[in-house]
Amino acid sequence: MNAIAAEILPTDIANTAAFYAGLQGAAKGTDTSSMFPTLVMDKVKLPADFKKTFTLYQTVNYPERPQVRHLYANDIAVKAAKDGKAAPNGAVFALEVHTPKLDADKKPIKGADGNLVPDKLAFTTVMEKRAGWGKDIPEILRNADWNYGIFNADNTPRTTSNQAECLACHKPLVKDDYLFSIKPLRDFAMKK
Ligand code: HEC
Repeated sequence: MNAIAAEILPTDIANTAAFYAGLQGAAKGTDTSSMFPTLVMDKVKLPADFKKTFTLYQTVNYPERPQVRHLYANDIAVKAAKDGKAAPNGAVFALEVHTPKLDADKKPIKGADGNLVPDKLAFTTVMEKRAGWGKDIPEILRNADWNYGIFNADNTPRTTSNQAECLACHKPLVKDDYLFSIKPLRDFAMKK
């Protein structure tokens, strides 16, 4: 798994995502503990009030799942993106995954802006970069000093999840500071 991840070009983000998404689909319900070492997520906290203090910079629609995702970045991360720099320590990203509102035929409803209309929050994922946070993570999985967290709809941490899975999927994106959404983030930051 890690050897495969290392072979994928960071420029080929869409394929990387599709590759892992496919793997995930195939592996649904499978015990992945044999594929990865178990790395607990004990550092990242859900940032308080992030919907007020962070900036929403991208909405990603997955009509087939169906899901609508809202990507937020704090000011430190937006400023670095505007300057074309890697995110410094203190950068935080939050990604909210919602189920969308459905019409009578159970098809997701699109809003006036073309995005799916969120109904219920399913969970929130968070990435945060702090000095020294990478040191306890094996090099083969390490994403510089980024750490990952996942939170249930009631904001409690999902302690059963394995951080290794987050690290492995984001790992190929070395040149993009491990961020899938680097382009939309930079495009958004430049316009500010
Ligand atoms: C199957 C591959 C995959 C896995 C596993 C994965 N991610 Fe991601 N992540 C993505 C993709 C693709 C995006 C871009 C937004 C989207 O399409 O949802 C993303 C975006 C993010 C973002 C927004 C910043 C960015 O990189 O663009 C955060 C935060 C995030 N993921 C956290 C996590 C956490 C926490 C975990 C583990 C619980 C995790 N991810 C596991 C593929 C993955």
